[in-house]
Amino acid sequence: AKPLRIALAGLGTVGAGVLRLLETNRAVVEARAGRPFEVVAVSARDRHRDRGVDLSPYAWCDDMTALAERDDVDVVVELVGGSDGPALALARRTLDAGKSLVTANKAMVAHHGMALAEASAIGGGALKFEAAVAGGIPVVKGLREGAAANAIERVSGILNGTCNFILTNMEKSGADFDAVLSEAQAKGYAEADPAFDIEGVDAAHKLAILAAIGFGARIDFDSVSVTGITEVRAADIARARTLGFVIRLVGIADCDLAEDGTPRLLQRVRPCLVPRHHPLAHVDGPTNAVVAEGNFSGRLLFQGAGAGDGPTASAVVSDLIDIARGDIGAPFSVPVSDLVTMAPADPGHRVGR
Ligand code: NDP
Ligand code: HSE
Repeated sequence: AKPLRIALAGLGTVGAGVLRLLETNRAVVEARAGRPFEVVAVSARDRHRDRGVDLSPYAWCDDMTALAERDDVDVVVELVGGSDGPALALARRTLDAGKSLVTANKAMVAHHGMALAEASAIGGGALKFEAAVAGGIPVVKGLREGAAANAIERVSGILNGTCNFILTNMEKSGADFDAVLSEAQAKGYAEADPAFDIEGVDAAHKLAILAAIGFGARIDFDSVSVTGITEVRAADIARARTLGFVIRLVGIADCDLAEDGTPRLLQRVRPCLVPRHHPLAHVDGPTNAVVAEGNFSGRLLFQGAGAGDGPTASAVVSDLIDIARGDIGAPFSVPVSDLVTMAPADPGHRVGR
């Protein structure tokens, strides 16, 4: 069978993880894909940095956007990050060239996902971003495919591993916020700029993507109401505990009716009091969990590692397997609904009943 020819941009936590996974699991990956995988070219900033993987089999490209124009490449994997800049330039050039794009970049998808989906439809290449939401949990596929027969009533969950790692460590051992954040960075969970994590923006990126898939709406990141965990103190966590709650950073998207009867989508991310018996209260460390409520499926719970090299690489390679098998379907509902999105007036800092 013809090999799937891959170019990889970004060789950090996730990029190096993808190369390691392909090396370790090559036989199972290729058997499931039905064809060989061939990494043709790679790119990052520093050619000489030791990444713990052997790069000698691959062509090195200093200009990563040139990966999109190589005749020997079918799919570009973007693992660089940043909503705009080189990642977006590479994504656009890849899709405009009619090639497929796999990305873990939720910031880029949250801001430009609709335009990229259009470019993918025009060019004929796939746009896949399973790794952009909740690391190793197949929640994009779960919502898009597994729950496709349902009207989704609510999507909620713990969507940022770094914040969950910080909150649960503060809860368990009274650890200092900054010290745990440094540990999350050292373990590769945090964004290059961890303000995206602790200010709730990363969770908001993911919520906007999930809401668009679940509700068939356009991605509208700007209407997500966001509060991060920077103001959460050890004393708040201790007080919550005496009242029977834990504190988690939760994203929630659901619908209500505006005064004129128009359905509208409400999206918010904030530290919430979660009752100790609620499933989200038991989600610890860098784990993520997403709860989707469908009108026929009932409550679906997706849970697993939300950050880190292995789980994220697993999601990236699952997208590559889909592409190798010929699944290049549209990433969002077509046509998208006319659901109006808006930031909720009521902060609603409590989940569960
Ligand atoms: P890293 O910071 O570890 O790696 C980024 C890579 O991109 C590095 O190899 C870096 O090169 C390269 N790079 C950055 N800027 C440029 C540039 N201007 N030109 C060329 N190369 C560049 O990030 P991660 O691997 O953690 O994350 C990658 C993407 O995956 C991001 O979008 C992130 O949000 C997303 N993600 C990350 C997860 C995680 O757990 N880490 C989980 C899910 C998604 P060099 O190494 O030479 O500096
Ligand atoms: N920084 C992100 C997190 C990585 O901590 O969840 C996974 O998207």
